[in-house]
Amino acid sequence: MAAEMKQAHMHAEGPAVKLAIVTCSDTRDLASDEAGAALEKLVAHAGWVCTGHVVVRDDRAQIAEAIRAAADEGADIVITCGGTGLSPRDVTPEATADVCPRDVPGIAEAMRAYSLTKTRRAMLSRARCMQRGHTLVVNFPGSTKAARECWEAVADQFGHAVKMMAGGGH
Ligand code: MTE
Repeated sequence: MAAEMKQAHMHAEGPAVKLAIVTCSDTRDLASDEAGAALEKLVAHAGWVCTGHVVVRDDRAQIAEAIRAAADEGADIVITCGGTGLSPRDVTPEATADVCPRDVPGIAEAMRAYSLTKTRRAMLSRARCMQRGHTLVVNFPGSTKAARECWEAVADQFGHAVKMMAGGGH
């Protein structure tokens, strides 16, 4: 790879993180997925690479399959967006657990702690963070504001998490 190309894919803390977005919504599509579009910009701004962006219905099997596919296609991080609340159609945390064997509770705790400083409603998100092999799956709430806030809360640790999943120490 040419030096300048390699440079374009390097982040300050190491190789560019490969991140995929799975938006879970019964009403949005790719063109109207504002939170997903905002996340794509944040990914680019970090110097990372967005390896996929799909919108699936609030359907447990569809969400689980989209997460599995994104992870198995090589994403380091899969961010799901939406479906973490208490309504009967909110099944993103369950779908995440269907395809991820390992819980990473600290990231979800950090998102909720930070989000609670923004809105009391943050306690209504059931978001989980879990690991599937070398991929970290992080549930973000669905609003654009909430997605941005959750990014602020945890994205600075993604680079190190990716290194650890690859077998690196501290
Ligand atoms: N987290 C942050 N950072 N900012 C927010 O505005 N909204 C909350 C919560 N988490 C919010 C947030 C609200 S109102 C709900 S209902 C839950 O996330 C679940 O949202 P979801 O069903 O779109 O996933």
